[in-house]
Amino acid sequence: MAGIWHDAAAGTWLAEMRSTSYAFSLADDGAALRHLHWGAALPPAALDGLRATAAGGMPGQEAQLSLGRERPDEYVPWGGLRFDEPSLKAEYGDGTRSVEWLVTGHRVTRRGPVSTLHVDLADTVHPLRVTLAYRVYDGFDVLDRWATLRHEGDGPPVLIRQAHSANWWLPLRDSWRLRYLHGGWGAESQLAQAWLTPGKIVLESRRGITSHQLSPWFTLDAGGTATEEDGEVYSGSLAWSGSWKLVFETNPGGRAHACGGVNDFDWAYRLGPGEELVLPRFAGLYTTGGLGAASREWHAWQLAHVLGRGDEAAARGGGRGDEVGRGWMPPSGRTVLDRGDGGDPPLRPVLYNSWEATSFRVSEAGQARLAEVAARLGIECFVMDDGWFGGRDHDRAGLGDWTVSREKFPRGLGPLIEQVNNLGMRFGLWIEPESVNPDSDLYRAHPDWVYHFAGRTRSQHRNQLVLNLARPDVAEWVFATVDRLLSENHIEFLKWDMNRPLSEPGWPAQSGHDPERAWTDHVRNLYAVLDGLRAAHPGVQLESCAGGGGRVDLGILRRVEQAWPSDNTDAWDRVTIQEGFTQAYPPQAMMAWVTDSPNWLTHRELPLSFRFHVAMAGALGVGGDLLRWTGQDLAEAAELIAVYKGIRPVIQRGQLYRLASVLHGPFAASEYVAGDDVVVLAWWGPRQCGVRPGRIRLAGLDAGARYRDAGTGRLNWGAVLMEEGLALPQEPAGTFGSTLVHLVRLGADEAPHR
Ligand code: GLA
Repeated sequence: MAGIWHDAAAGTWLAEMRSTSYAFSLADDGAALRHLHWGAALPPAALDGLRATAAGGMPGQEAQLSLGRERPDEYVPWGGLRFDEPSLKAEYGDGTRSVEWLVTGHRVTRRGPVSTLHVDLADTVHPLRVTLAYRVYDGFDVLDRWATLRHEGDGPPVLIRQAHSANWWLPLRDSWRLRYLHGGWGAESQLAQAWLTPGKIVLESRRGITSHQLSPWFTLDAGGTATEEDGEVYSGSLAWSGSWKLVFETNPGGRAHACGGVNDFDWAYRLGPGEELVLPRFAGLYTTGGLGAASREWHAWQLAHVLGRGDEAAARGGGRGDEVGRGWMPPSGRTVLDRGDGGDPPLRPVLYNSWEATSFRVSEAGQARLAEVAARLGIECFVMDDGWFGGRDHDRAGLGDWTVSREKFPRGLGPLIEQVNNLGMRFGLWIEPESVNPDSDLYRAHPDWVYHFAGRTRSQHRNQLVLNLARPDVAEWVFATVDRLLSENHIEFLKWDMNRPLSEPGWPAQSGHDPERAWTDHVRNLYAVLDGLRAAHPGVQLESCAGGGGRVDLGILRRVEQAWPSDNTDAWDRVTIQEGFTQAYPPQAMMAWVTDSPNWLTHRELPLSFRFHVAMAGALGVGGDLLRWTGQDLAEAAELIAVYKGIRPVIQRGQLYRLASVLHGPFAASEYVAGDDVVVLAWWGPRQCGVRPGRIRLAGLDAGARYRDAGTGRLNWGAVLMEEGLALPQEPAGTFGSTLVHLVRLGADEAPHR
C-alpha cells in the first residue's frame, strides 16, 4: 500500500510507492525544504543518513546554489543566492521581488487508494502561501505533484511571474540522456533524444495548446543505457493543455534537474486577497525496468486514475474569481474524482468517423447510407464529423454557428440519430467550440469575443480565430451551446477539436487588468466547461483532437476518454506515431482509423489487413469511404472487426511490450499481455531482397507455461517464445506486410509432462 509518512523528530517526509520512495526534509532553520531522495525504495531509517550528508555538495560558494547543493531546494523560490531555474518568482506590493519563507504546516489525507500530503510554506513578511502537494496511489510508482498559491491577506495583490508545478531532482550520475516527443502536423509523437550537457534544455509550447511540436512528457536515463527492457528510467508528464515549459539542467557533478509547469513566457498572474491559483499536476515515476516498464506504468496508472476521471484540484477556481458563470462551474467543494478512481475505464467502442469519406459534404441521406454499411461491419459508434452546422460547406465559413444546417438536415439531427441508434450504434458528433470563422453569424455579432490586440492584425489559421475563453461570458456561451446540443439530441460521443493555436492573446477591454493571465484562464475555463458538461451529461464520452494530435496531455486526458493522435492516417507513418504516443499514453486512449488506400495524404497504397492491424493497436476506428469499398473489402473488414472485439480487452487493458521498432530494424511489433491472453501485432515495410524479416522475441510471458496460437492451434513454450521468438511470415521483400497472433496460455491442468 502506498503511503506518506512524517517523522516529526527528524523533520523528514517519506512517500512510499509500490517499489519507489521519495523523501525530503526540513532544513535546520525551518526556512526551506531540502530534497533527499527519489528512486529505489529506502527503509525509513535510511533517511537519517541521507539527511546527515546534507552538508556536502559542490565546493565553495557553489554549495549554496540549489543545483550545486547535495540537498537542493525541494521547490525553488527565487531569492537569495539561487541562480538556477526557479520554481516560483513573485513580486509583492511594495516592490519586493524575492521570496523568503517558512514551513508552517502539513497534513496527509487518504481517500480510497490515494494518499495526499500537503505542505504549507508561507512568506515571512508578505501574504503569500504556497502549498506543495504530493499524491501516491496504491499499487503504482507514480508520484503526482502540484503546488497551490494563495494570497492570504487583504493587502495589495501578489504578482506571480513564474510558478512551476514541481521540481524533480535526480541523483548524481555520470551523464543523463533525455528522451522526448516532438513533431508537427501529420507527424506527431516522434521520439527524439538529447544529452544533458551544461546549460539548459527547454521544451515548451507557446501556442496556448499542448502542441504538435513538443509534448509535455520526458524520460531521463543515466548514461543513456536504459533499453526497452532494462535500466533505470525517470519519467515525467505534465497535465496541462495550454502553453507549458519543461526545463532540464545539469551540473558538472552530474545531478540533473527537471522542472516545469505553465509557461512563464508572456504570462503573469495577479493574485488578489483570498485568491488561489492551483497549478497543473506534474506526475513522475521511477523504474529499473527500462523504457517499456516506464510506459506500462504510465498506462496502468492512467487507466486507473486519469482517463476521464476529472481533477478535483483544477475544478476549484478557474475563471476570474466571483465573475465566473455558475452553470459551467462544477459545484464548489465537489471533489471531481468524478467517475471514480481505480477500476478499469470502459472499453472503447469501435467507431466510424465520416471526415475522410464526406469531408464537409454531409447530409442526412449520405450519412445514413454510411451508417448502414458501418453497422453491418460491427461498428458501435457512428460519428459525423465537420460540416453539419451553420454555413459550413468548407473551412472558410460557419465555425461558431452551432445550429444544425437546415439545408443538409431539413428535419434536424433527430432522424439520423434515430436511424443510427436503430442500427445498434451510438451517435457521435464533431465540434470545435473554441474557434470561429470570421465569416460566421457568431463573429458578426461578437467581433470582440476573439483574442486580439486593438488595432492589430487578427492572424487567421485555417481561416479561423480563437474565442477568448478567458472571458467568463464566452466560456458560459460555450458551455450553454454544447449543453443545449447535448440536451436536445441523443448524442453519446463528442469529438472536441481545436484546429489552431492561440495568437494575439489580447483582451482590449481588460487592458491594465492582468491580461497575461489569459494563457492560463483559457485552459482552466476549458477544463471547467468540460467538467461541467461531463457532470451534466455523464453518458457522453469525449475525444480530444486539435488538428490531429495537438492536444494530448494528462490534463485533457482527465476529461476525455480518448485522443486523436494525428490527421495522418497512412498506416505505415502511423506505426511510428503510435510508437511515440504509447511511450506516454495508453493504447486505450489512442484512436486509430482504418482509411482508404491510396491514402489521401501520402498517396501510399497499403493492404486492408495492414491498415487494420495498425489501427487495432489502439482503439479501433474506421474512417474510409465505405460506399466505395468492395464487397471483399467489407467482408474482410467485418471479419477483422470481429477479431478486434475478441482481443479488445487485451489491447485496451493489457500490458504493452514494444518488441521491435522500425526506428531500429526492418519491422515493428507490439505485444499486449492480459491474464492468459497475449496478442502480437507486427508490421513491416519493403526491404532489400535477401534481408530476412527476422523473428520476434516475445516478452512478459510465463516461461514455464505453454501457449496455444488461437489461429493455428500450434503450441509453444513461453520460454521458447521469449528466447527463440515467433517467425514472421515469409513474404516477398518488396511488399508491406503485417500479422496478428493471438496466444492463450494453457492452464496448469492442460500442461504436458515436463
Ligand atoms: C481537424 C481534425 C480532423 C477533422 C477536421 C474537420 O483537422 O483533426 O480529423 O475533424 O478537423 O474539419
